[in-house]
Amino acid sequence: MQLHIFDTPEQACRAAAFLFAAQITEKADSVLGLATGSTPIPCYQDLIAFHRQGLLDFSQITTFNLDEYCGIDYKHPESYHAFMDRNLFDHVNICRENIHVPSGETDEEGAKYDEMIRAHGGIDIQLLGIGRNGHIGFNEPADAFSYGTHVVKLTQSTIDANARFFNSIEEVPKKAITMGIGNILSARKVVLVATGASKAEAIYQTMRGDITPQVPATILRTHPNCVILTDREAAAKL
Ligand code: PGA
Repeated sequence: MQLHIFDTPEQACRAAAFLFAAQITEKADSVLGLATGSTPIPCYQDLIAFHRQGLLDFSQITTFNLDEYCGIDYKHPESYHAFMDRNLFDHVNICRENIHVPSGETDEEGAKYDEMIRAHGGIDIQLLGIGRNGHIGFNEPADAFSYGTHVVKLTQSTIDANARFFNSIEEVPKKAITMGIGNILSARKVVLVATGASKAEAIYQTMRGDITPQVPATILRTHPNCVILTDREAAAKL
């Protein structure tokens, strides 16, 4: 696992955008694994800017998003479908039929998502944020690592963290469907971006703690091609 510490959050996000841009430039029909949350937004803004400058062509790109809330309409502004449209897909020349965001409330629907990923030859590069509790996607601290896409109950810390996007905490969905740790480890390259002091403990545990499903991101240390990009604040405990 490689760690790069940048002075500012903008630099860490830009470095992630460069890695995605390089992947798209190298392989025009790349399969991208994408993430939501506030961290990747500047990275998507950079990719949009590269596209507008004529540097990146998304016409042959396929995407698979990590996760989605359960029990929320895909048109809801806080659904991850809507987030991705707003922050990336509406601004680049990606073909709608090549966009995949998980949906559903059962593990069977998750298994179909995994089948689609396999049918596309797997994910070339996976973008990740990290939760304060070390979650990746919505793989929350648990007694065992999960393999495929599955339905999860969100922890209170995740519900609290997501409340800022909803009118009240009651509106925050309590369940989600997420790619599993196995899906993430199967990606050929993994890029995790963490910025801000609230991620410092999670980054410390990811780099230095025991590899445990109680801190899901620790498993990334077993990935042969994983890069962690942080700002100074997120790296403060290292
Ligand atoms: P954030 O979320 O980017 O909004 O901090 C990251 C995550 O919870 O995975």
